[in-house]
Amino acid sequence: MGLVEGQSIAEHAAQAGSGVAISRVMLSDFRSYASLDLRLQGRIVVLTGPNGAGKTNLLEALSTLAPGRGLRGARLSDLSRSTPGDTGLRPWSVGATVRSTFGDTQLGVGFVPGADDNGQLKRVVRIDGVPASSPQALVERLRLVWLIPAMDRLFHDGAAERRRFLDRLITSADPQHARRWNNYETAMRERIGALRSAASEKWLAALERTMSENAIAVAASRREGTKRLTAAMNASRSSAFPMAQIALEGTVEGMLEMMPAIEAEDQFAETLTRERVTDGEAGRTAVGPHLTDLIVHHREKGLEARTCSTGEQKALLIRLVLAGAAVPAAGAPEAPVLLLDEIAAHLDYARRQALFDEIDTLGVQAWITGTDTSAFSALEGRAQFLRVGDGAVRA
Ligand SMILES: Nc1ncnc2c1ncn2[C@@H]1O[C@H](COP(=O)(O)OP(=O)(O)OP(=O)(O)O)[C@@H](O)[C@H]1O
Ligand SMILES: [Mg+2]
Repeated sequence: MGLVEGQSIAEHAAQAGSGVAISRVMLSDFRSYASLDLRLQGRIVVLTGPNGAGKTNLLEALSTLAPGRGLRGARLSDLSRSTPGDTGLRPWSVGATVRSTFGDTQLGVGFVPGADDNGQLKRVVRIDGVPASSPQALVERLRLVWLIPAMDRLFHDGAAERRRFLDRLITSADPQHARRWNNYETAMRERIGALRSAASEKWLAALERTMSENAIAVAASRREGTKRLTAAMNASRSSAFPMAQIALEGTVEGMLEMMPAIEAEDQFAETLTRERVTDGEAGRTAVGPHLTDLIVHHREKGLEARTCSTGEQKALLIRLVLAGAAVPAAGAPEAPVLLLDEIAAHLDYARRQALFDEIDTLGVQAWITGTDTSAFSALEGRAQFLRVGDGAVRA
């Protein structure tokens, strides 16, 4: 069910039956946790504890239940719990029970050091005990959207970070986006290899066709994604957070502005063929959706996000992420689970209260962390409060 024009996000969430929540988390040898078995009530979860207590680690563990490298972009081996004097890596695992209106699903992700798949270390994904063909299958069961302190730099970072931010928001509602992106990236890598090893014309043409098909599909879903994000922001006019004006800056996205997808596909494939020598010499692809940027403006102020204050940038990000949580999903549960690490930082008192109210209104499960419980007093009675420390989590 999609967001209907004129329908508020709250109404939408209520109709969607929200219901999707993580009701149990089990960790073994994940970062600072030797083992953890945590039951959740299904509503907002507030995790507090001193610096280094393991709050972010717990959110990161949940984020391994999404395609990609988790919320810190860490290597699988970094996630293995290490203690002084260790020789070798421990296997780690993350298990979660996801409760929805359709019943319970068990999701499991694990990593066994040394396990090899075509020379690549991979995590094992299980859904209800059955190995999943790809991590993208997780999105069909659990839709995760996160906001972490490292994103405070998003508007100062390079285009790649903003592009990933957008792609993640889109993927959280549409696993196909991640599949197409993977197909594109794999073909792009293979083409560079092929150019350097003087592979056959036929092989190169086939790779360029694969790149082109997936590039157009990725660009099209980005265009659709930015429209949906804008629609979701428009639907929450009363938000305390500023409206972000978002636009894509990318060659392939631009082509779709001017011509039908089929034509754009041919044109991009021709461009790749033309650029073979340059790309081969440079060892990278000069044009394509891997170079797209997401341009964000503070709409009311008419300013580019990077020139806004720290708090304003955070507020813009929150508006975008809440919109990402509200966009209709295709092939993913309607209701997302939000992971909000140190969300209260940089927010003044009024904004903080407004954020809690907006999360509450969304009716989704949100995991919120912070060092001081006092910052979350407004959530008393509306959230499950947990204290994190010494490798354990207590009520
Ligand atoms: N692979 C690992 N094995 C063991 N401990 C680890 C591993 N990786 C990280 N840690 C430790 O986990 C601890 C908790 O980290 P985490 O980032 O979760 O803290 P936090 O509660 O979010 O703190 P802060 O309030 O500073 O953000 C840190 O002391 C860190 O050194
Ligand atoms: Mg932290």
